[in-house]
Amino acid sequence: MNSPVMQGLNLNTPAYVKHAKLVAWVAEMAALCKPESIYWCDGSQEEYDRLCAELVSAGTFKKLNPAKRPGSFLACSDPSDVARVEDRTYICSAKKEDAGPTNNWMEPAEMRATLRPLFDGCMAGRTMYVVPFSMGPLGSHISHIGIELTDSAYVAVNQKLMTRMGRAVFDVLGADGEFVPCMHTVGAPLAAGQKDSTSWPCNPTTKYIVHYPATREIWSYGSGYGGNALLGKKCFALRIASNMGREQGWMAEHMLILGVTNPEGKKYHVAAAFPSACGKTNFSMLVPPQGFDGWKVTTIGDDIAWIKPHADGKMYAINPEAGYFGVAPGTNFHTNPNCMASLDKNVIYTNVALTDDGDVWWEGMEKDTGKLPDHLIDWQGKDWTPQIAKETGAKAAHPNARFTVAAINNPALDPAWDDPAGVPIDAFMFGGRRSTTVPLVTEARNWTEGVYMAATMGSETTAAAVGTQGVVRRDPFAMLPFCGYNMSDYFQHWLDIGAKAQTAGHKLPGMFCVNWFRKGDDGKFVWPGYGENMRVLKWMIDRLEGKAAGQDTMFGVAPLYAEITWKGLDFSADQFKTVTSIDKAAWIDELKLHSSHFEQLAYHLPQALLETKTALQTRLATL
Ligand code: GTP
Ligand code: SPV
Ligand code: MN
Repeated sequence: MNSPVMQGLNLNTPAYVKHAKLVAWVAEMAALCKPESIYWCDGSQEEYDRLCAELVSAGTFKKLNPAKRPGSFLACSDPSDVARVEDRTYICSAKKEDAGPTNNWMEPAEMRATLRPLFDGCMAGRTMYVVPFSMGPLGSHISHIGIELTDSAYVAVNQKLMTRMGRAVFDVLGADGEFVPCMHTVGAPLAAGQKDSTSWPCNPTTKYIVHYPATREIWSYGSGYGGNALLGKKCFALRIASNMGREQGWMAEHMLILGVTNPEGKKYHVAAAFPSACGKTNFSMLVPPQGFDGWKVTTIGDDIAWIKPHADGKMYAINPEAGYFGVAPGTNFHTNPNCMASLDKNVIYTNVALTDDGDVWWEGMEKDTGKLPDHLIDWQGKDWTPQIAKETGAKAAHPNARFTVAAINNPALDPAWDDPAGVPIDAFMFGGRRSTTVPLVTEARNWTEGVYMAATMGSETTAAAVGTQGVVRRDPFAMLPFCGYNMSDYFQHWLDIGAKAQTAGHKLPGMFCVNWFRKGDDGKFVWPGYGENMRVLKWMIDRLEGKAAGQDTMFGVAPLYAEITWKGLDFSADQFKTVTSIDKAAWIDELKLHSSHFEQLAYHLPQALLETKTALQTRLATL
């Protein structure tokens, strides 16, 4: 393929790129964004090392002490650019109803007219990186390809860890393969001769994260952080892919996937939807506690699942990602030893603190060492001491500080994590962060009730959602910020998938609602959580195997105290009651909240969910 030169700019198209439409698109986008140069990523280690070295020179990366964290870097972002920006995220379907009441919407032509002047010249003075990536194993029939054009080298190196990124993608694409075009700019053009005045260029005032479901395009402006900028993740693998799945009969979900093997060697697969910063990474890497000799949990994915019903009657799940972009604060050898082991080398840290000996630190690590460090440089580059923290409440790491690490670093990685066929799902779990009301675990009596539990899931907000923390917001299926179409149509899609399987005589996965976060009168978590969640997982498997009868409650089937394996944990029947009780008054209020939630989602809301609510109300009335 020849390399057209436009406006004095060489496209630099490598000879191995044979896709005329792709090259034409890159040329068109270059003409719009006017970068200083264009660079096609090949995904090699040499390239990764070189880009990291350039990021060090630019001040974006600090190289960590190789004796402590070999091959690892720390980036600290602009304080205005620390999390996904949900209020700046748009689903631009032709009709507003198709985006639904939970998404921001703008008419596509109007959005294009808004974005065009912003993208015009947005990469001036910068390199435009062409980043080819596959979501899912390369060449798998389940996988999809994206090409991200970005003016951020930070994004390019993160994509190397988070996706299958590089030259092989072009072989799969061939001359006319399909790809999702992903436009990304930090929105900070440089005038001729101007140098960056900051190590984290972004647009402090203007941000847009835009999706056009009809044409499957993503346009992201103004942010360099996480899901705003690593466009394969939330934008593609959830918002665009949920649209693909709806059309093609599969599901794109905000779910971890794990394998759990019992001492007899029987293996189950579980997919779990917990909202952002509510424990997916933790649960996917769970280390079974004392009393669970011979049990093993292995990670397939920690954040996103693509799930397809198969002709054999099972639902197969793949993790479209190849790495983890996980929450750092709270992670330590007590809460998540596998994660800590994953983080010992070749990691990109963002917004954690720097120790005096060139290592990283975040809140929660003191649980491992028994003490706070005497001195740190916090994520904003300021001095931090325990005294300063005490006086000002300053956090050393930002609460949404994250690590980027390749899946292959994970000692608990499942051997099938990269299997193009995926793994068969035996159970779905849904769980938010609720300090009251929602019990530790209940099983839905049927698929519709499971969809109801997931559709009405609530969670107390965390740092991943900007705004007030600790307020309950409904986060159906943990997909509130990620569903790329009308939420009620999405509920219907889940009901349809279940109905189709049942009509075909297939056994559906179990559906469980969980809550690790009930608090006692002292304001502390009652359930020990983390590895101890294995006890709940084991009960779920006992249910699947018909070994636990449970007891019928107003909100599904709950475990009896005696049905949980308590060996190795001191947890009294009274404590158990605190985390499993169903309080009538609280549930009367809760169901009122479900009602107003459903009123908000009235357009296309499946009748079956309203009927389920009525049935729950009837059960509650008899309590
Ligand atoms: P995203 O990457 O934002 O989608 O989040 P995630 O769901 O993967 O969350 P993650 O596993 O990183 O958990 C984040 C927070 O939840 C940390 O502060 C953990 O300490 C806390 N957490 C995880 N599991 C548990 C648990 O079982 N009990 C309690 N109390 N906290 C937990
Ligand atoms: C989440 O917020 O659910 C994440 C982090 O997994 S981000 O990729 O930034 O969206
Ligand atoms: Mn997530």
